[in-house]
Order: sequence, then structure tokens, then C-alpha cells
Amino acid sequence: MKICVIGTGYVGLVAGTCFAESGNTVVCVDVNEEKIAGLREGVIPIYEPGLKEMVIRNSAEGRLTFTTDLAAAVKTSLVNFIAVGTPPGEDGSADLKYVLDVARAIGSHMEGFKIIVDKSTVPVGTADQVRRAVQEELDRRGVSYEFDVVSNPEFLKEGAAIDDFMKPDRVVIGVDNVRTAELMKELYSPFMRKTNRMILMDVRSAEMTKYAANAMLATRISFMNQIANLCERMGADVSAVREGIGSDSRIGYDFLFPGVGYGGSCFPKDVKALVRTAEECGYDFMLLKAVEEVNERQKMLIPEKILRHFSGDRAGESRPLAGKTIAVWGLSFKPRTDDMREAPSIVVIERLLAEGASVRAHDPEAVKEAQKIFGDRIAYSCSSPYDILAGADALAIVTEWNEYRNPDFERIAEQLRTPVIFDGRNLYNPRRLKEMGFIYHGIGRNG
Ligand code: NAD
Ligand code: UGA
Repeated sequence: MKICVIGTGYVGLVAGTCFAESGNTVVCVDVNEEKIAGLREGVIPIYEPGLKEMVIRNSAEGRLTFTTDLAAAVKTSLVNFIAVGTPPGEDGSADLKYVLDVARAIGSHMEGFKIIVDKSTVPVGTADQVRRAVQEELDRRGVSYEFDVVSNPEFLKEGAAIDDFMKPDRVVIGVDNVRTAELMKELYSPFMRKTNRMILMDVRSAEMTKYAANAMLATRISFMNQIANLCERMGADVSAVREGIGSDSRIGYDFLFPGVGYGGSCFPKDVKALVRTAEECGYDFMLLKAVEEVNERQKMLIPEKILRHFSGDRAGESRPLAGKTIAVWGLSFKPRTDDMREAPSIVVIERLLAEGASVRAHDPEAVKEAQKIFGDRIAYSCSSPYDILAGADALAIVTEWNEYRNPDFERIAEQLRTPVIFDGRNLYNPRRLKEMGFIYHGIGRNG
């Protein structure tokens, strides 16, 4: 099939590459000329395991090309995916500017029947807006071509994007037309197995499914963060509680890890957008408002623990952490990505700096992105995590990169001025660390 994917970010680039991998002819379009020039040379603008090799292989085999020429790409493609950003507007609602720009561009260049697929995360009713925008352009040109607008939300996770795309739990397709439904089924059939499902539904339900999924996952995380905070006060260990409830097949183990709050480019914006959508139709989504508020507070937990630990008799002073150096392991919003969008590390580090601390941070992939946020206000390392420990007053773990999971504790203790660890991801065994002489603060573990 001839496919055009418009927007070569995390979703567009991964989707386009995986469709090429399954044999289709794919052209990826972006307005960012630098990005496209780089991709033509095999330079991948993001860190996503396995993506580079796949892009290079499919480009070499001629199935995957990159262009800024949307008109030419649309003319030659039957299926046109819209995979541009939908950032939050000032009131929290999803800003559809980029999606509708692309819809108009498709309408002004298409010749013949087209399937237009909303891959971006968009509120219920967006397909109707896309349809109108395309039709307005056709009317303006005085031409008449048939087209279908499909909702095909994406559920991939950064850091595991290729696997999630090639082996999805499910593929959701919101479609009104039988012929188009058949084509979409054909396109996704290489990714379907005995263990997953393709779920066809109406367009509005597909749009809603995406927000409901992200909102549910965010709710689990905020719920577990509150359970953890309560465990801490009651002398219980949230890790045991997590196992205890996860073993119930109705609950399951996934997405029950308490920590420093959820971040990333999607949960925060999608929760806000759903609250806003509800408001627009006069419904108060109280539960989700609480999910968001809990998350905002959770991001403050590690700096507050650090403050409590160090301020002692300096509590009440204006910069109680002045003279203290905190080493931070992990900057990206989660491991296996260099994405810093809404990363909890931003809140943690900004608060530490505001309280007077000096901060040194290690991250294997996100230092370049982090430098855009913190500049020279903090020190960085992307090589050895031990580089930043010498003379620091404490180590705070913010992102659970694998290389932090089983470190050389003797080396950590030797380097730190005082052996204090704030473990924002509950990576370590509190008892073992205490035996080794550490002062250990976890999340919900009474440590
Ligand atoms: P992104 O910001 O990484 O990429 C968007 C790309 O679109 C950019 O390269 C930008 O230059 C390009 N673009 C903007 N306007 C354009 C235009 N008019 N023509 C061509 N290209 C244009 O975004 P992303 O993270 O890939 O997210 C895209 C959408 O997918 C969002 O709605 C997001 O919520 C959703 N989503 C993201 C993820 C994820 O893991 N990042 C997962 C599922 C769904
Ligand atoms: C999330 C969803 O998992 C994807 O299904 C969805 O497609 C995507 O959003 C999207 O719509 O963009 P992603 O943001 O890449 O994917 O990462 P997640 O693994 O979901 O993690 C999100 C945040 O939640 C991270 O900050 C992570 O640390 C946090 N988290 C996750 C927890 O605090 N606890 C958990 O148990 C799981």
C-alpha cells in the first residue's frame, strides 16, 4: 500500500518506519527541513531503541523516504496519516492547529480518493473538524473527490515504541465505511497475532478510547502514589502492597509503581484535555482533576524529603539547602528515552535550586535535552553515574535507568560526603541499604 505519514515525531516516525518494515511504500513528511535532511542521511532526531537500524534498512531498500513536499506525498498515497503534535492550549484543551493545518493541506493537494487517518491524540469530534477542513479546501478548488476520515489512535510507549507498534495489545480503528475498514484491516494485519485484537468501532468512540486509556493509566499511578504516601505514614511497605493487589487478575501488576509522579508528553496533557472536554459539555470530571492534583504534589515529594532531611534547625531560613550539593540520577521522564517533556526531574531540580542547593545530574541519553532547560545552572554527566558523586551531600534517584538498579554501593558511599539516598523509584532494598550504613528514603516504604 502507498502510505504518507505527516509529522515525523515519536509517533509518525515509528509508525512510518514500521509500515515500511511490513512491506508498504511509505513517505514521511515534516515541515522541519533540518529533521528531514537528517533522516535522509540516517540521522534519527530522537533516542528510541532499535529505530535507527530500521530506518536505515528500510530507506536503503527504497520503501521509506522523507520529504517536506506534502503535496507530492499526498498525491501519490492512498492512506494519509496525520501524526502531528496536539499540545495543550492555554485552557488545557488540545490545540488542533497543526492537525487542521495538515487537513487543509491534504484538501488543497489531493487528487482522487484518499483515506485520511487521525493518528494524533485528538478530542472527540476532531474527525468531523478534519472532514470539514478537507471539504472546504475541495470546495475552494471547485473539485470533488471522495475521502474517508478514520480515527486510529496510537498506544505506543516511548522507549518500547517499535515493539509496541509491531506487537500491539490491540489496534483501535474508528471507521464508518466498510471499504475503508477492510483496507485498514489489511494494513494492520502483519501486526496481528493470536494474542492481540483489532477492534473496529465508530469514530467518536475510537477518539474517546485513547483519552480513556491514558486517563485510566494516570489514575492508577496517582492512586498508587497516594497509597504509598499513606503506607509511609502507617508503617507499611507499598512494594508489598503492590504485589498483594497486583496478583488479583482483575487489577494486574502493570502501572502500579509509585514514584516521583507521571510525566512525558502525553499523560499530563491528555488528562488536562479530557477534563477540559468534560467541562465543555457541562460535566465535572472530579476524579481526573484529583489525579492531576495528586500528580503535581507527588513531583514535590523528593525535594520535600531532601529539605526535611537537611534543613533541621535551618528550617524557616530562606535558602535552607545553601551549601549542599545534590547528585541526581536520571533526567528524562522515563528510561530508554531522551524525552524531557514534562519530566518530573524538572520540578525536582528547580525546587532544589530554589532552596539553594547545587545540583549535578547524570543521564545516559537526556543531557542534551536537559541542557536546553537548565543551561549552566546545573552540572551534567552522560558517561559514568559515579562522576557526579564526589563530595555530594546526597544522591537522589529520579529516573529508573537500568544502570542505576544494581550499582556499586561501596563506591557510592565512598564518594558521597554523607551516605544519604533519596530513591524516587524504589529501586533499592531499604533494609540492605541500612545495613550498609546508608540513610535511605524511598517512596511509601517507611525508609
Ligand atoms: P512530536 O512533537 O514528537 O512530533 C510532531 C511532528 O510533527 C514534529 O516533527 C513537527 O515538526 C511535525 N509537524 C507539525 N506541523 C506539521 C505540518 N503542518 N506538516 C508536517 N509536519 C508537521 O509529537 P509526537 O510525540 O510524535 O506526538 C504526535 C501525536 O501523537 C500527539 O497527538 C500525541 O499526543 C500522540 N501520541 C504520542 C505518543 C508518544 O509516545 N510520544 C504516543 C501515542 C500518541
Ligand atoms: C504513555 C502510555 O503508556 C502509552 O500507551 C501512550 O500511547 C502514550 O502515553 C501516549 O499517549 O503518548 P509514555 O508516556 O511513553 O506512554 O510512557 P509510560 O511508560 O506510560 O510512562 C508515563 C509516565 O508514567 C512516566 O513518567 C512514568 O515514570 C510514569 N509511571 C509509569 C509511573 O510513575 N508508574 C508506573 O507504574 C508507570
